[in-house]
Amino acid sequence: MFSHLVRGNPMAVKIVEKSSPELVEAINRLLPQLSSSAKPMTAESVEAFLSQPSTHFFAFTPDDDPENILGMLTLVMFQIPTGTRAWIEDVVVSEETRGQGAGRKLTEAAIEFARNNGACTVDLTSRPTRQAANRLYQRVGFEQRNTNVYRFSC
Ligand SMILES: CC(C)(COP(=O)(O)OP(=O)(O)OC[C@H]1O[C@@H](n2cnc3c(N)ncnc32)[C@H](O)[C@@H]1OP(=O)(O)O)[C@@H](O)C(=O)NCCC(=O)NCCS
Repeated sequence: MFSHLVRGNPMAVKIVEKSSPELVEAINRLLPQLSSSAKPMTAESVEAFLSQPSTHFFAFTPDDDPENILGMLTLVMFQIPTGTRAWIEDVVVSEETRGQGAGRKLTEAAIEFARNNGACTVDLTSRPTRQAANRLYQRVGFEQRNTNVYRFSC
């Protein structure tokens, strides 16, 4: 399932490139813990999601159970005239695993990957009510920008 190792830690954070029934199950177990409105993914939608060359899926697994995905993060990288940019989205750690460093490991692994692949910035957004997430991002070095965030809902 796993094709890369990150930060020299073979059992903590990995980039997953291939779908599997276990992966689909893990994503669908974690998604409701991130968003009450997110729809479950299908085997086909996970396959399509992972096949995008600009999209990198990071999974956190415990040392003694490397197939058991307890946290996830998606990093999207793209080139625009001002440089190579990266966005972090859909960060979530399973409730029973929180507070043990998984979120930090996922975020730091994504930053390292983005940096190693030429990104000049890594961006993300997080609602102010997400206190743990906002603290996490600041602890790993994200700085709050003074900008307006807009969304056009399709
Ligand atoms: C945000 C989330 C991913 C953090 O994952 P985690 O594995 O618990 O985080 P870590 O254990 O790695 O903690 C890293 C830092 O986050 C902060 N943090 C974690 N839990 C916190 C809490 N309950 N309250 C305040 N800060 C918290 C701390 O600053 C911590 O570092 P420190 O202990 O050195 O200060 C997790 O709480 C989660 O999945 N929340 C629900 C989904 C979500 O909000 N996702 C983010 C979307 S933007």
